[in-house]
Amino acid sequence: MVDKEQIAEIKNSVNIVEIIGEVVSLSKAGRNYLGLCPFHGEKTPSFNVVEDKQFYHCFGCGRSGDVFKFIEEYRGVTFMDAVQIVSEKAGIAIQNQARPHQPTLVNPNQELYDIHQEASKFYQAILMTTKMGEEARNYLHERGLTDEVIRHFQLGLAPAEGNYLYRNLSEKFSEKVITDSGLFTISDAGTVFDAFQDRIMFPLTDDTGRVIAFSGRLWKEAMDGSHQAKYKNSRSTRLFNKSFELYHLDQAKTSAKKLREMYVMEGFMDVIAAYRAGIENAVASMGTALTPEHVHHLSHFTKKVILTYDGDKAGLEATVKALDVLQDLDLEIVRIPDQMDPDEYLKKTSPEELASLLKDSRISKVEFLMHYWKPSYIENLQAQIEFVEKLAPIIAQTQSITAQNAYIYKLADLLPDFDYVQVEQIVNNSRLQQREATQKSGASKRSNFSVDLLPNRGMSRLVKAENHLLNRMKDFPMILNDYRLRSDFSFDTPELQVLYKLLCQNGEVTSQDLSEQPEGVQHAWYRMLEEDLPEEISDGELEEVEETRQRELLRKENQQIGNKVKEASSTGDAETALLELERLIAQKRRME
Ligand code: GTP
Ligand code: MN
Repeated sequence: MVDKEQIAEIKNSVNIVEIIGEVVSLSKAGRNYLGLCPFHGEKTPSFNVVEDKQFYHCFGCGRSGDVFKFIEEYRGVTFMDAVQIVSEKAGIAIQNQARPHQPTLVNPNQELYDIHQEASKFYQAILMTTKMGEEARNYLHERGLTDEVIRHFQLGLAPAEGNYLYRNLSEKFSEKVITDSGLFTISDAGTVFDAFQDRIMFPLTDDTGRVIAFSGRLWKEAMDGSHQAKYKNSRSTRLFNKSFELYHLDQAKTSAKKLREMYVMEGFMDVIAAYRAGIENAVASMGTALTPEHVHHLSHFTKKVILTYDGDKAGLEATVKALDVLQDLDLEIVRIPDQMDPDEYLKKTSPEELASLLKDSRISKVEFLMHYWKPSYIENLQAQIEFVEKLAPIIAQTQSITAQNAYIYKLADLLPDFDYVQVEQIVNNSRLQQREATQKSGASKRSNFSVDLLPNRGMSRLVKAENHLLNRMKDFPMILNDYRLRSDFSFDTPELQVLYKLLCQNGEVTSQDLSEQPEGVQHAWYRMLEEDLPEEISDGELEEVEETRQRELLRKENQQIGNKVKEASSTGDAETALLELERLIAQKRRME
């Protein structure tokens, strides 16, 4: 476990302004420091560093946190790694030899990392140095992988034996690590088998390069004709979450930062093919579709994704699905011809041709969908109508007017029964509809706000009052205690309620507690800290806050009832409308 006090000591011995100042140019603005946000592209500074409270907040992208969080986000490392990095800057040794009984800041998962590291070295040695590995290495050579490439990707071989790995590692690691690692299966009788047998091994790393799991590929026809999955991944473990990790991200991130874009591919062998063609900024998901977690993870390293899935039907379908989760990033698409994947394309052509395909033949989302959705019987009027109506909203979302015009031209060109003006009109209509829809949803978001959705300045009075209250609870244990005893009390803002629960449990919210919370909760904490309150509590202050809170809660409830009445009467549900109206009137009376 981690020593809370030591973390606090580390935090207190550095100044966040200096740490951030190493990588962001900051200038003093009033009591705070201001600079260009390193997390989203911007030309006018909205990245604020608050020295007296030791945290940062960006008014542009909403990111905020303390010094550890900054290092986590900026370097793409875990909380514990961030603590390590800051401690080094502070010159505090965190391996505490003088007091061996004190808990030190050793990563609790260290042994799991170690066993993966050992296993990876072991598999590599089998592939590169043994007779048994020679045949597998020939297989890889035949697929075009040189020893340099094999080494770069640290490929290995799991031997075709029941528990070869186990016999080599069981002495060095505890039973718990063996079971938790996901590298072994244990029979009911207690016999341990290696999870991977007779497979080419791809080590899967986290974005700092530590091996956290493996994927193994079959490379020989099974003798007994049994059908096994071509690729097999480690099961999920404390280290490995395949919905979050991306293959090769640890290597790709450097080049992606420079080139400001990242290729996302389907397979490991495709990423390897890109590397062979001189393209290092490519990653792949690990046998799953792209998830929002993947995209969030990626967004730390790049703002632009080049989707490069297989050219077959499955690949095109996967591309369409990925478009949905990639909404917030810039996007281009590469289609590989003749239903090939990048690796097959390289094999059929050359590394140079793969490189130029990846760099020079990108298309936009609209172009991709125009091709993908194009009806096979384009003369059919009904099919044309459906096609236009599906594509128009996507064209309407395009930022550039020039691009929009070009798409409208192209679409009108494709359709025998529509001309430019007609298509343009349909696109304009859907733009209007979108505008109305966002205005409506903006209004409804405001009525059931979450702190995260509201910029600081437009924060609702309710959230502001609740921030005020929580801020006082944080600094005054007596107040916290008072509320703790009121069993019916809870915060209306869900994020603040989570923080309140944490406060109640531990009496404080530490950097680490916070780092384990969802992003929204973390932001809520820093928004709350931004509440500028005098040090002393004034007479009647809390009563006033409590009054505001109650009034705003009632107002919110009213608004919700009002909405229901409107909804019910517009759908002709008179009974519900009346009931809700009655509630509303009762409420108003209570408020007076
Ligand atoms: P090669 O056949 O070695 O060229 O790989 P590929 O990249 O062409 O394979 P494919 O397009 O079939 O699969 C793409 C990715 O999906 C692979 O890299 C794996 O991550 C994953 N995958 C493929 N088959 C399986 C499977 O049977 N099980 C699992 N878990 N993942 C698979
Ligand atoms: Mn392939």
